[in-house]
Amino acid sequence: MVQASISLKPALDAIGKAMDQRFDRLLPVPEDSRARLFNAMRHAVIGGGKRMRPLLVVAACDLFGIDRDKALRVALAIECVHCYSLIHDDLPCMDDDDMRRGKPTVHKAFDEATAVLAGDSLHALAFQILAEPATHDDALARAELVIELAEASGPVGMAGGQMMDLVAEHELYDLAGVTRLQQLKTGALIGFCLEAGAIMGRVPADQRTPLRGYARDLGLAFQIADDLLDVEGSAANTGKAVGKDEAAGKATFVSLLGVERARTQATMLIDQAIAHLQHFGQEADLLRAIARFAIERDR
Ligand code: IPE
Ligand code: IPE
Ligand code: MG
Ligand code: MG
Ligand code: MG
Repeated sequence: MVQASISLKPALDAIGKAMDQRFDRLLPVPEDSRARLFNAMRHAVIGGGKRMRPLLVVAACDLFGIDRDKALRVALAIECVHCYSLIHDDLPCMDDDDMRRGKPTVHKAFDEATAVLAGDSLHALAFQILAEPATHDDALARAELVIELAEASGPVGMAGGQMMDLVAEHELYDLAGVTRLQQLKTGALIGFCLEAGAIMGRVPADQRTPLRGYARDLGLAFQIADDLLDVEGSAANTGKAVGKDEAAGKATFVSLLGVERARTQATMLIDQAIAHLQHFGQEADLLRAIARFAIERDR
């Protein structure tokens, strides 16, 4: 087992600051009746969240020596989609949650219609950022980023997983079913973060296998950790309500395996994720540290 040798705290703090600054610049509030929409978007993307996906993008881009400014644009794009997915996930018609990242959810702080529009707008903004020339000199690379993010967000990615997740309240999934659900709901967007690094670095598709393996195992372990936090975590640490999955009767790894076996499974997946990076040297230490963090976190 390879141990992560670097502390993640400074890297998480730095990416948090970078995201806050860039979103602040990107979303000035206009002095007209759209102000409410911009304020709702800002509420969702500024000041909160672990920023694990942006950090994954930067770590993957660092493997290939990508310019930091360009990497941060891709990081902004994935965080836009992630935050949009959280806004909609929290709506009364989905998980009906009042707290997110230690603040009222967007539909609570504003209203449901504004929350829907803020999600829609962040979704669109993600693709605008990726397609703009500043993201990559090569238009083909930009097109590939757009295609990959579209796939990871839509019915064969996050939205498809969210559909399966809603059905999980009424339908009994076995382990294979829950694995599929989690891979789509959470794994696909995490997969994009690593794939984006390879796209930015113009790495040929047949050389992306280790990063894809890492992403697949990490994505699954990350969602198991989320499900464990729902059972064992506190609202004070996670910044969101806990105990929701059981109350909704949702099939998760924890409901199927129990806490102990779910935790063992997550640890095994993280060891496996790190093993996929064996041919990389120190340049992949940040990815290794993120993998450990994904299951050791308390928020
Ligand atoms: C929460 O994601 C939703 C899942 C896909 C499990 P995060 O745990 O990354 O949420 P933030 O971004 O830190 O708030
Ligand atoms: C949300 O999963 C996943 C997406 C938003 C795609 P959860 O419903 O488990 O996330 P939390 O627990 O509300 O953060
Ligand atoms: Mg949900
Ligand atoms: Mg939820
Ligand atoms: Mg959850």
